Order: sequence, then structure tokens, then C-alpha cells
Amino acid sequence: MATTLEAIRFRRGAAGERASLQLLEQRKLPLETEWLEIEGPQAAWTAIRDMTVRGAPAIAIAAALSVAVDLLNQGAGSQFADTAAAAAHITQQLDYLVTSRPTAVNLSIAAAALSQLAASKAAQPGASAAGVTGAVADACEAMLRDDVAANRVMGAHGAAALLAAAQARGRAASGRLRVLTHCNTGSLATAAYGTALGVIRALHERGALEHAYCCETRPYNQGARLTAYELVHDGLPATLICDSAAAALMAEGRVDAVVVGADRIAANGDTANKIGTFSHAVSAHHHDIPFFVAAPTTTIDPTLDHGGLIPIEQRAAEEVTHFKGQRVAAEIDVWNPSFDVTPAKLIEGIVTERGLVPRAGAAGSAFAIRDWLEA
Ligand code: MRU
Repeated sequence: MATTLEAIRFRRGAAGERASLQLLEQRKLPLETEWLEIEGPQAAWTAIRDMTVRGAPAIAIAAALSVAVDLLNQGAGSQFADTAAAAAHITQQLDYLVTSRPTAVNLSIAAAALSQLAASKAAQPGASAAGVTGAVADACEAMLRDDVAANRVMGAHGAAALLAAAQARGRAASGRLRVLTHCNTGSLATAAYGTALGVIRALHERGALEHAYCCETRPYNQGARLTAYELVHDGLPATLICDSAAAALMAEGRVDAVVVGADRIAANGDTANKIGTFSHAVSAHHHDIPFFVAAPTTTIDPTLDHGGLIPIEQRAAEEVTHFKGQRVAAEIDVWNPSFDVTPAKLIEGIVTERGLVPRAGAAGSAFAIRDWLEA
């Protein structure tokens, strides 16, 4: 395998050097590789909203690191009158970043945790503003490492779960799976390795991947541009299909399991993910194909009872009506939700870095997420 793919580069810099955050310009992939220097939260907010960086975990990590780079380069604490001012500034920057995109919950969860860390450090006796900013920068940097570690563990859990579920249905007797996925959930959507694509990578590493099918993922084509790029980069056996070809592929008996990522999982297991995911779940159910979600626990929102409460981002009509800046659709009204919600009853399993989320009851019931998280 060639170089490891990455979409986020952070360098803390030695004493006297500037810290640096670079984001891979994903809108230009796969044709061009360009890195953008991100100076701070404002640039990160724009990069997230405009999809330079996308994917729920990557959004959270990039946002957090933009706060870190700004703190480190603006004085590493010396810019604040006291610890309270440092903590208030950090919270204000994080709250602003949370407004960039509404559906993925990882950023809100990270922002709450980092604000809490800043406040508690600021309240410690003898604390300094430099101590507060340093602790927050450390925590932001740790997000990169922790995400990769979580994805590798998730990959192992997911590979075993997909194989077992497919074989329980009399599929994949050879021990090798044909897996369909949607959107991009790989190294470009996370710190590295990926969630659903991490499961596919883990299957491949174990010699248990027969073939991966990636859906193009209209209208933004994260599957055609990014997942296809990752699969080719890693040399995995793979085929790109139109989103609308997935049911036909299943009907031909060419899919043993489906695995997708998530942007927000409600307390009952209802899962918001890239638009088109729900259609794949319905098709998989019709063909008795196990449908899995792979996501870190930081994608779970236990405050929402069900998926109907998840805010769904609406994106610009031009993403649907235009191709490479050129109008290709008639002048017509457009509905362009970026995500849909797959009901828990269509999900065979939710794979996390802590293993599979248990169900509250029999197959098809809600998932017992709150109890499981608290245990
Ligand atoms: O609009 P995007 O590209 O940010 O949407 C990404 C997805 O929906 C992914 O499937 C999800 O964030 C999981 S990424 C590991």
C-alpha cells in the first residue's frame, strides 16, 4: 500500500515555531491534491460549510484543531487577561464553529467537552491562561490520535459482525463478503482509516473482502469522487455504482452486507446519514441483506429520543441543478436534503469502538443506547 491517506494535518511546532493546520481541499479530489492552510476558526467554519472538509468525525476534529492553532499562534495564553477570559474565548469560538453545519453531532459533542475542559481548568486554584489554552490544545490534538484508534477497533468489531450476520443468512459461505457502502466514511471523513470504510478495510486486511461496491452518492458525489479514490488508492477490489442501481445489484444476489456511516444516531438507534442511505436500508430489508451502521460513540446523540428530532441540513439547489458550474436541470424548484434518517428497525447492528450497541428487545426493536452509554 502506498502512503496513508489523510485529510487533516496538524503540526504543533517546536518552541518559537508557529502551529499549523492544513485541510485537504476535498472539493478538488480526485483530480487535484491541494492543501489549504487554516489560520483559525473563521477559516475552518467556511471550510466546513463549503465542504472542503466533510464527514462527521473530520468536521469535529478540524474545527477543534482550528481553535487550537489559533490559541497557540495568538500567544498561547498570553493574549488573555486571566483564565476566565481564556475559557470564555474558547467557548465562544467553539459555539461559533457548531453553527457551520447542523446534522452531524460530533462537533457539538466535542465543543461541549472542550468548553467544559476549559472551564474546569480555568477554575483550578493557581491556574494560568497558558495552562487553560495548553490543556485545550492538547485535547484537540488527542482527537486526531483517538479517532484513528477508535476506527481500527471499530473496523475489527464491524468485520466480525458483518461476516456473522451474512453467514447467519446463508450468505458468504466462502468467508468472503461483497459489501455495499454509501457516501464517504474513510480516511477523508475521519482522522484516518474510517468508520464504515474502516470496516471494509478491516475485512480486506483479514482476507474476508470479496468486493466493495460504492454508491456515487448524488448530488455531491462523495462516493464517486472520494470513496472510489480511497478504494483505488488502497487497491481494494471495488466497483462504483449509481445510487439507483443498488436495489438491482441486491436483486442479482451480489451484495452480502451493507455498511454505512452516520452523522447522528438518536437514543433509539434511528440514524441520520447521507441522503440515499434510507433507500439502501429499505432495499436491503427487502432482500434480507444485513444493514449495518458503523460510527464512533461521539456520533450518538442520547438527548434525542428518535430520529424525527434530528435537524436535517438543506443544501443549495445548485448542487442538484448544476454540473461543474453549468446548469443541467430545467428552471424548477429543488428539494435537496443532505441527509435522511434510517429507522432503527431496518438496522441490523450499530458498530462502535465499544462494540455493538445492544437492542432493547428482539430484532427490529429500538436500540438501548442510553442504558448502554451509562453502563
Ligand atoms: O455531507 P457530508 O459529506 O459531510 O456527509 C458525510 C456522511 O454522511 C458520512 O456518511 C458520515 O458523516 C459519516 S463519516 C465517517
